[in-house]
Amino acid sequence: MTGHIAVTDDGGVRTVRINRPEKKNALTLAMYLAMTNALREADQDGTIRCVLLAGARDAFTAGNDLADFMQAADGGLDPRAHEFITSLARMQKPMVAAVNGVAVGLGTTMLLHCDYVVAGTGAKLMTPFLKLGLIPEAASTLLAPMRMGHVRAFALLAMGRPLSADEAKEAGLVNVVVGPAEVDGVALAAAREIAALPARAIALTRGLMRAQQQMILDRMEEESKHYKDLLQSDEARAAFQAFFARNK
Ligand code: COA
Repeated sequence: MTGHIAVTDDGGVRTVRINRPEKKNALTLAMYLAMTNALREADQDGTIRCVLLAGARDAFTAGNDLADFMQAADGGLDPRAHEFITSLARMQKPMVAAVNGVAVGLGTTMLLHCDYVVAGTGAKLMTPFLKLGLIPEAASTLLAPMRMGHVRAFALLAMGRPLSADEAKEAGLVNVVVGPAEVDGVALAAAREIAALPARAIALTRGLMRAQQQMILDRMEEESKHYKDLLQSDEARAAFQAFFARNK
């Protein structure tokens, strides 16, 4: 657990809240590790029946911390982000997401691993991987076309076109769109509803619905190989530097 990831258990629901609002909830290596541990423990804890992934009011998450990316461009990629991504794919308990504000990069692609997604009216989903000289991750190159169809997935993943909450709902990434103040409550109610379902039956149902798990893990490995190479490219380095120069 780090100060930036708050884990709370209540009534069979584990809430994993990303809490680094001053950096739009950008994910550091320590945060990935804390989230991976929270998911793995939830899977092993018989009292936890559902996991709720949540963020702050103006940011679900701005994705990977770009300062960490700059370091990775020089020193190689730390495995912690990849371990978090694979823990999403290996997760056996159902996952609900409560999305307010920006959901960038992994903030969007992790939703493809969730079972029920609530978004606030102002939510904005975007995956600017190619603009950063990278490729999409978290098996999104497999899951997004399956979920949304090729042309919508291409506009999102390759062209980096953002989706509003309503567009994301229409594309099948989000179940319900509510006012920003209601997101957490509606998502928690859904998580409690899922937590109250018979444990064995929900585990079997979810497992059967996610029969392509090995394919997802294989795709993650394949994406990751290219991702590691591209992180060290001139385009990626220039994009990271441009982001921090912009902020100055
Ligand atoms: N990594 C590190 N820091 C980040 C960050 C990231 N991914 N996203 C935002 N931040 C930081 C900013 O540097 C800024 O810090 P500062 O106040 O110390 O300068 C702070 O968070 C607020 O961000 P800001 O850009 O001022 O907010 P905004 O509302 O104008 O824009 C975003 C929000 C998310 C659209 C914008 O910050 C952004 O594009 N971030 C990068 C997203 C990204 O490319 N993620 C990687 C995807 S693979």
